[in-house]
Amino acid sequence: MEKSYNRLIENNRVWVEEKLTLDPDYFKRKALGQKPEFLWVGCSDSRVPANEITNTEAGEIFVHRNIANMVVHTDLNFMSVLQYAVEVLNVKHIIVCGHYGCGGVNAAMGTDSHGLVNKWLRNIKEVYAKYESELDAIDDNTLRSNRLVELNVIEQVHNLAKTSIVQKAWASRTLQVHGWVYGLDSGRIKDLGCMVDEIEDLEAIFRFEFHKTAVKG
Ligand code: CO
Repeated sequence: MEKSYNRLIENNRVWVEEKLTLDPDYFKRKALGQKPEFLWVGCSDSRVPANEITNTEAGEIFVHRNIANMVVHTDLNFMSVLQYAVEVLNVKHIIVCGHYGCGGVNAAMGTDSHGLVNKWLRNIKEVYAKYESELDAIDDNTLRSNRLVELNVIEQVHNLAKTSIVQKAWASRTLQVHGWVYGLDSGRIKDLGCMVDEIEDLEAIFRFEFHKTAVKG
């Protein structure tokens, strides 16, 4: 079997040399700590690497990626990332970035059963159901998928706003939640203009009231 993974180690060696040539203290500085301004919630798709498509460096973006860039409030992995990013790193912006042609979204639009991942895709199907009349009116499959990708991002932005973690931050400081979509065939990011940054952006039923006692969860 070809050991294709050896290429990654070799690439790493070359990369380290390049970095050290430009700046001998590069890794020493990185090791001191991180102060990223952004939390990125993106798709696991290999073609949407957060740092590369935003032309940013290691240390600039705190990243969480999963199938179809979902914000699921029972997902302990994501909620832990969110809490750390907001309460410890004090990120100023959370960016949900979907992408057109998302395999997760396309799978959710279909009727095939995929085993375990059905449980994850179910969250996207709920988005479809919420916007069924708008989506069913789009005949072209690609255009309908593209619109669901956008609506899914908007829903995840709102799912972030529904968390006590984001709302507690809003009570004392500025925190913006943005919704973007990346075009695989253009390389361009589109801002969907669905930014939320205050509790009034949310339906009343989802608003928490914070009292003097410490808020948990
Ligand atoms: Co995807």
